Amino acid sequence: MADAPKKVVLAYSGGLDTSIILKWLQAELGAEVVAFTADLGQGEELEPARQKAQDLGVKEIFVEDLREEFVRDYVFPMFRANTVYEGQYLLGTAIARPLIAKRQIEIAHETGADAVCHGATGKGNDQVRFELAYLALDPDVQIISPWRQWDFGSRTDLIAYAEEHGIDVPADKRGEAPFSIDANLLHTSSEGKALEDPGQEAPEFVYQRTVAPEDAPDTPHYIEIGFEKGDPVSIDGVRLSPASLLTRLNELGGKHGIGRLDLLENRFIGMKSRGIYETPGGTILLAAHRGIEQITLDGGAMHLKDELMPRYAELIYNGFWFSPERKMLQAAIDESQHMVSGTVRLKLYKGSVSVTGRRSARSLYSLDHVTFEDDVVYDQSDADGFIELNALRLKLLARRDRKSGKNS
Ligand code: ARG
Repeated sequence: MADAPKKVVLAYSGGLDTSIILKWLQAELGAEVVAFTADLGQGEELEPARQKAQDLGVKEIFVEDLREEFVRDYVFPMFRANTVYEGQYLLGTAIARPLIAKRQIEIAHETGADAVCHGATGKGNDQVRFELAYLALDPDVQIISPWRQWDFGSRTDLIAYAEEHGIDVPADKRGEAPFSIDANLLHTSSEGKALEDPGQEAPEFVYQRTVAPEDAPDTPHYIEIGFEKGDPVSIDGVRLSPASLLTRLNELGGKHGIGRLDLLENRFIGMKSRGIYETPGGTILLAAHRGIEQITLDGGAMHLKDELMPRYAELIYNGFWFSPERKMLQAAIDESQHMVSGTVRLKLYKGSVSVTGRRSARSLYSLDHVTFEDDVVYDQSDADGFIELNALRLKLLARRDRKSGKNS
């Protein structure tokens, strides 16, 4: 057993569960708590969290707006790779964890704390993501994972503990929570309860930030996204900071019912789980980034990126953001983006986003070469030898197989 922690930096949301954790750290572990609340665009007021921490006797409270850093240094680098996990998930939860963990470790160093604590349960990916990040950044830090350590057996035990310690229990938290939500500027994820039968369609009330496609406006909305070196920098010609740009895309995507996903995925720890994701802005961004790459990225570079992407997505999903192999892949991805600049026009309509045009001063698209009209730059007879040599081994195989009687 490690020594009892003296001072713990808690990732504190201000919600019921992390308030119970806060009290538990103080009362059961006898630790001094430093509360850290980050604004990652989850859409909640943060000042109430400060007040609650104060009421619980916390002296050192960090409430920080990390939205720009989140989008600029985590979301955008990930989108340069067109990252999707298991073909569909845009990793909205996974990409937020490394930033929270990084700030927790920095705060631990600033305040002389010897431990860090998160509120992720013992069944999910998030405990792994938090703890791999903590240990990558400080191999000696003590980690407290209350859900794996305390002996509350049920939700009822937890509520009783809260009441015993004067923690306010909102009326809607008395029964079982309808589902568990994680939200930030990139997405909202909902899991559990109403969603636990993967054969049942998710009820409409699960959706938090997108309208149903069938209720979206009947007229399409066109937008133009400007890119520089692989990152989006403007919407309809207006330059926006990373967080404001993503916020604007979320409004547009939400209004047009874009970015809903019902997914049954493989968790790193081995079980399958079903979740509902809403990633309105991210879904537009992914389409737009692919659109600008289509016109600016070399085919070989594009295909290599597409091969590397699933591995890169898995590293982020599994919590290896701070690993050398993730950084190596990032370097390769970033190297491909120097010329990925220009504008993409997109049509948002009833749940779908489609690229309708792309333009770039760095274009590799050559009308002279591709035109069906007469051209002077390309000699069609060059294709004779190209095909002849590419077909050579196929012909040799086919002849051998014909001789040996193999029919296909
Ligand atoms: N399954 C998603 C992931 O591992 C989301 C997890 C958190 N979501 C939640 N509703 N608690 O990235």
